[in-house]
Amino acid sequence: MDSTEARSLSPVAVTATAADHIESFHKALDLMARERRYLTLMEAFPFPDTQKFVLDMIKQGNPHFVATVEDEVVGWCDISRHFFPAHRHRGSLGMGIIEAYRGQGLGRRLMLAALKQARASGFIRIELSVHADNARAIALYERVGFLKEGVQKRSVLIDGRFLDAVNMAILLDEQ
Ligand SMILES: CC(C)(COP(=O)(O)OP(=O)(O)OC[C@H]1O[C@@H](n2cnc3c(N)ncnc32)[C@H](O)[C@@H]1OP(=O)(O)O)[C@@H](O)C(=O)NCCC(=O)NCCS
Repeated sequence: MDSTEARSLSPVAVTATAADHIESFHKALDLMARERRYLTLMEAFPFPDTQKFVLDMIKQGNPHFVATVEDEVVGWCDISRHFFPAHRHRGSLGMGIIEAYRGQGLGRRLMLAALKQARASGFIRIELSVHADNARAIALYERVGFLKEGVQKRSVLIDGRFLDAVNMAILLDEQ
């Protein structure tokens, strides 16, 4: 049995991100960004920037969760609080799972953990933007209660191909 097969038999844990996870999170994020399909990034920001971002998220009490298999990060979900005083009740959600672990309900586990903390931290409105052709992501978001609010036509341009983006949001005080 090789190490990949062995890992696939190990349970996947969903936990709040800790400083020890950041290096592995950075690698997973970079892998997903380089798919050039689902994320806005085409590669992860340099490690020190990612490290600062995650440590700030933890310090501010913003939801930042990882899915791990034997301490290796295979997915994440985070919610960043908006900056302006009149927007502080709003958060932007981002998430991703490395290819081998998609379609197994892990997205739902990560999402529910992040929304639970968001509620506890007083967020009212969580927003996200998703490429219109990402049917699996849209299905997950609708399943947990996000509603479509609009479509940004030709919002994304990757490798010469335009994609529409769907804006979605959930109001936590209405759930
Ligand atoms: C989007 C993503 C986070 C979803 O997580 P996941 O663990 O793969 O998804 P889940 O297994 O929880 O399934 C989500 C739902 O989509 C459904 N689904 C799966 N494939 C689908 C497809 N091709 N079309 C429509 N629905 C689909 C599942 O049946 C499930 O619905 P259910 O709970 O009613 O059964 C994950 O696939 C991913 O990281 N993709 C690449 C990166 C990405 O898209 N990030 C989000 C950018 S906005």
